[in-house]
Amino acid sequence: NGGVNDPKNLRVKLVLLGDSGVGKSCIVLRFVRGQFDPTSKVTVGASFLSQTIALQDSTTVKFEIWDTAGQERYAALAPLYYRGAAVAVVVYDITSPESFSKAQYWVKELQKHGSPDIVMALVGNKADLQEKREVPVQDGIDYAERNGMFFIETSAKTADNINQLFEEIAKRLP
Ligand code: GTP
Ligand code: MG
Repeated sequence: NGGVNDPKNLRVKLVLLGDSGVGKSCIVLRFVRGQFDPTSKVTVGASFLSQTIALQDSTTVKFEIWDTAGQERYAALAPLYYRGAAVAVVVYDITSPESFSKAQYWVKELQKHGSPDIVMALVGNKADLQEKREVPVQDGIDYAERNGMFFIETSAKTADNINQLFEEIAKRLP
């Protein structure tokens, strides 16, 4: 912005998509409340939370987060939540190749039906379960790169990379 320091207040609609059980709701709970619930219940329909972060240039970004339900029976509802979203966070579980395939399905769906300028992030969650890893980190990196997405591995359990995920998204907003 030509070196002019003009703090802005942005409001951003963000949708989380991904297979049931990959940890979408746990990621949101960690980001918004700093907590982890090992007994997290499956999401029904979708749930809404918001959280504001401040960037270094004193811009604030208010994320309006739609945490969708990953169970197949709710798949038809997804367009209600990703339509008009500025950001889509597609989550898989690094211990589950099936969830990685499902993530790729959601990316294609977003490419077909999402906003043309949508910012997309690919997230490999449960990075604390290294001994059970079945999706190599390089597979996530490669897929994200081919599809113009930001990629990160996170753990909602340990909080690893959760704030970084949202900060990196904020930096990539148009
Ligand atoms: P749906 O609402 O059905 O779409 O599932 P979801 O993606 O919201 O999954 P949820 O956040 O409810 O997490 C499912 C379970 O995975 C939780 O009860 C946790 O036990 C576990 N879990 C979530 N995140 C992590 C993580 O980072 N590490 C580990 N080890 N377990 C996690
Ligand atoms: Mg959920």
